[in-house]
Amino acid sequence: MPATSALNVAKPLTLPCGVTVKNRFYKSAMNEALAGRDCAPTEEHVKLYHRWAMGGAGVLVTGNVMVDRTQLGEPGNVAIEDERDLNMLRRWAKAGTCNGAHCWMQINHPGRQSPATINPHPYAPSAGALDGDYARFFAPPRELTVAQIHDIVRRFAATSGIAKKAGFTGVEIHAAHGYLINQFLSPLDNRRTDEYGGSLENRARFLFEVVAAVREAVGPKFPVAVKINSSDVPIAAKVNAPDGVPGGFDEEESIWVIQRLADMGVDLIDISGGTLEKPVIQTTTGAKEDERRGVYFTAFAQRIKGMVDTPIALTGGFRSASDMETALESGITQMIGIARPLVVRPNLPNLIMYGNWRAPVRLPWVTTGIKALDKAFGGVLVISWFELQMNRIGRGKEPDPRIGGMRALLFVLKQHGMGALAPRRRKGHQ
Ligand SMILES: Cc1cc2nc3c(=O)[nH]c(=O)nc-3n(C[C@H](O)[C@H](O)[C@H](O)COP(=O)(O)O)c2cc1C
Repeated sequence: MPATSALNVAKPLTLPCGVTVKNRFYKSAMNEALAGRDCAPTEEHVKLYHRWAMGGAGVLVTGNVMVDRTQLGEPGNVAIEDERDLNMLRRWAKAGTCNGAHCWMQINHPGRQSPATINPHPYAPSAGALDGDYARFFAPPRELTVAQIHDIVRRFAATSGIAKKAGFTGVEIHAAHGYLINQFLSPLDNRRTDEYGGSLENRARFLFEVVAAVREAVGPKFPVAVKINSSDVPIAAKVNAPDGVPGGFDEEESIWVIQRLADMGVDLIDISGGTLEKPVIQTTTGAKEDERRGVYFTAFAQRIKGMVDTPIALTGGFRSASDMETALESGITQMIGIARPLVVRPNLPNLIMYGNWRAPVRLPWVTTGIKALDKAFGGVLVISWFELQMNRIGRGKEPDPRIGGMRALLFVLKQHGMGALAPRRRKGHQ
């Protein structure tokens, strides 16, 4: 294997805080679902991240780590409120930073997007039950008081400080996919009339306070990234109705927030998005869908090109080296955000950079073989399949693409009980 590669994706990148990452592969956050009821990291986390680090990516972002163990987004989440798990965190960070990789902890609070099976008492910017098919899976949230909002800001900072102390080399604040920060940004979810609701400036206040507190906790030379939706407008709706759904957090608002984040000295903006009727990772169609859709959010990335100096990680749909090279060459992104393909091929970065690998990664069509079951568990099915594969890697095994959907469902049922079969994200979000 040659030691160097002429590809753009192999080039290092220096972030605003002065830190240099060795290449442009940005392993996007995936909830590993490997923690037990104690929400602590495990040996499987250590093995999984060692494998990914050895696979060559420049940055590994962890699955979302929650700031409050009573408020989980999915079964198997890690939660960090204090230093009780510092030793295990140190081992996780060490594994994720071997081979010159960066390992950044993604930090999150689910807000109302916390299934009733694991959280009967969720909080949100505003009270009010959900509408739609998934409503029964989520308990109606209580409205956060201002004191509780301040406490959550403090928690984001505390978790970030512990991540740094444990040896993680950066943090990513999760402001996308319909979780708490995204709920504050959204005028549909946030109907507050105080300083945290109403105007965009007010709705973004919580995010900006989190970013400022996290920066204060980790200092100026530590990478702080933010994952944000290009808009909450569903991808499916965008295709059908380019103007999108009125009233949501839209592209104009997202651009304003991104510019402000750039002014605040954020080191990287990870661009993602939500969907409405068909959340993007909740379909079962694998490679076929990928071929149709291509790289996600490229139009938005084109829109913001040149508007901010902050590096961008465009995330979703990258399956081939040629798409990655094109995106980097065109300047719409500086990092390649990539999630599911790295579960199927943990060493994809090395294969592309040094192994002359040029074929697209083909994601499987995950099916139980029974149409009604596929329909009933569509979203959970795909997530479960990827969780099963991460679990295999965490136990030192190879991912096995031949494993079917039924086994994936039985696996999560065994791991996490009936709660695992509830939708992980409310309809409308990735
Ligand atoms: C099993 C699984 C878990 C995920 N968990 C997270 C998460 O914890 N935080 C997050 O921001 N995105 C999460 N995502 C979304 C991915 O980071 C990414 O945005 C999405 O999969 C699209 O990228 P891809 O097409 O390269 O897979 C998850 C995706 C999968 C498949």
